Amino acid sequence: MSYISKKLILWHKTHGRHQLPWQNTKNPYAIWVSEIMLQQTQVSTVIGYYQKFITRFPDINRLAIADIDEVNELWSGLGYYNRARNLHAAAKIISKNYKGIFPDQYEKILELPGIGRTTAGAICAFSFGQHYPILDGNVKRVFARFFGIKEWTGLPLVEKELWKIAEKNLPMTSIQVYTQALMDLGATLCVRSKPRCGECPLKNSCKSFLNQWTSIIPAPKVRKKIPVKEGHILIVQYAEQILFVKRDLRKIWGGLWSLPELEKKDDLDQWLLKFLKIKKSRTMNEGIYNATFSHYKYVMHYQHILIDNINIKIPENHQWLAKTEIQQAGVPTPIKKLLVSL
Ligand code: ADE
Repeated sequence: MSYISKKLILWHKTHGRHQLPWQNTKNPYAIWVSEIMLQQTQVSTVIGYYQKFITRFPDINRLAIADIDEVNELWSGLGYYNRARNLHAAAKIISKNYKGIFPDQYEKILELPGIGRTTAGAICAFSFGQHYPILDGNVKRVFARFFGIKEWTGLPLVEKELWKIAEKNLPMTSIQVYTQALMDLGATLCVRSKPRCGECPLKNSCKSFLNQWTSIIPAPKVRKKIPVKEGHILIVQYAEQILFVKRDLRKIWGGLWSLPELEKKDDLDQWLLKFLKIKKSRTMNEGIYNATFSHYKYVMHYQHILIDNINIKIPENHQWLAKTEIQQAGVPTPIKKLLVSL
């Protein structure tokens, strides 16, 4: 066994996490759901969402027949909604092609939407005890530090090297414990800033600990300035209801219910005529609301207008939501926050 796997397996017995809700199960569906949620979200946030999701959709077939709106509602607040869409799409595939039984072959799992090598590896290890490597952000940091890799770990050649390292260090036995230990070490001790090297089971052979390189490894990505996108959005209110439109699946927030958008601010009258067949509205308020994402900043110029015509027919893909329903609906979080801020 490699030094890393031996030390990590021993360490996990006393220092790893054992009581997370998706542990102590071999059910690939439950493990899959947890791994997808954990891809971009911290354990402490995931726990509540995971429990609600599994209670509402206890197996693959129940998820496959669900309405995507309901899946999005349960995802609301977790962000990265393409994960929810892919989960739903993959459940449909498993239901149709595999009779609702989660496949136990790595290659078949990897073909499912939303599942990359790390998620497939984790599912295979945790559910089926199969020996596959994982390499998420935390694990990259552990290996880069241990082996003293000073280049940015997102470079394709560096990544290739790290996958080889991940493969070479797999243990002969206890793959579940090892995989969880590797994740736990990255999440609890070998954290990005101020790692707790004194408590680390790998410190005696860790190049970064021995050379005091932990502050320079992992190397930061050279950041481009993030672009700013501007949008003109409409808050159309009738009594205590707000008008929502279903977003195009190919765009950001695809499939979620969001506010109508204009090309430019002056298109309001045209929009009212085209979509609501009315000439006039009352403007309540105008303003700007900023939302910052990992890849861009979104500056929302909003106009809040009031409609008093009861007989409006709204077009397909639109719906009124009562103000009290909005926070529970499949609405993007920045839009919810904007509406709360008014
Ligand atoms: N991050 C990704 N998968 C995880 C898991 N199984 N436990 C804790 N953190 C994780």
